[in-house]
Amino acid sequence: MSRPLPASFADAQREIARALDAVLTDGVPVGTSDPVLAAMRYTLLAPSKRVRAVLVHLAADVCGDATRAMPAAVAVECIHASSLILDDLPSMDNAPLRRGRPSAHIAHGEAVAILAAFGLLNLGYAHLSRAYAAPLAARVTSLYSDAVGLDGLIAGQAEDVLATDAIIDFDTLERIHRRKTGVLFSAAAQAGALSAGATDAAIASLTSYAKNLGLAFQIVDDVLDVTGTEAETGKAVRADARKTTFVSFSGIDGARELANELCATAEHALAPFGKRADALRELAHFVTGRRS
Ligand code: IPE
Ligand code: IPE
Ligand code: MG
Ligand code: MG
Ligand code: MG
Repeated sequence: MSRPLPASFADAQREIARALDAVLTDGVPVGTSDPVLAAMRYTLLAPSKRVRAVLVHLAADVCGDATRAMPAAVAVECIHASSLILDDLPSMDNAPLRRGRPSAHIAHGEAVAILAAFGLLNLGYAHLSRAYAAPLAARVTSLYSDAVGLDGLIAGQAEDVLATDAIIDFDTLERIHRRKTGVLFSAAAQAGALSAGATDAAIASLTSYAKNLGLAFQIVDDVLDVTGTEAETGKAVRADARKTTFVSFSGIDGARELANELCATAEHALAPFGKRADALRELAHFVTGRRS
């Protein structure tokens, strides 16, 4: 099931949803009732924009060959879903709602939810190693493990959680957002480009695009916590009260303005691709205007 991206992405979202379903079904005996598998399915297959997977596809497509993008798209969504389960835990954001449903630890219990998060992370890497031939498998795996690692999502998430109730400066907030969210966007774009056999110059342009897009995406997430509704976002809103966010520094309008500027910078990086990058431009417009 999908949450809205522009209509032109609906086919990609549907294909991605099918591939995600298959990765949790293939090889699993019919009737298996493993509780961890059930919790993995619960989160991975819940309504989502699948924006990181769409980014993998668009990056591959703009480099001329999207035929090998799907395993990298599936893996990035497994990694992302794993991070959402952990992010919602009582010891992190203590969030009751995710993707329009009770969070995984509420629906499945905390122990099973934690194991499901490990299960999804493990599945992402396993899928890459099985679906790609050796050189590409190694490159995308190393790209994603760097994005998750101690200079990526884990580091950003740790600093974010430890900064609850603390006063942090603007540079610290930007570093947190880049690492907890932006780095996985960059890795998604790079993985798509690598799957298409892109040149170093194309990879550099797409990295610059995705880095700015990812930071804008998290800034808009902060804005939606203040201006959005539960029905639109599928999450509890007004949940960031104990955190410093971009809205704390710049207000709602200032944060939106910053997200707009970052998306404009992202679009500049697409210049070498000309009109072939229009779908990536549309994705950037979606990010600045999104309500979910
Ligand atoms: C939520 O990501 C976590 C953030 C980095 C803000 P998304 O807004 O992409 O969530 P889904 O995948 O559509 O549920
Ligand atoms: C989470 O940021 C980013 C992750 C790496 C999971 P948030 O905590 O703001 O994401 P939401 O609002 O819960 O989706
Ligand atoms: Mg969080
Ligand atoms: Mg959260
Ligand atoms: Mg948030």
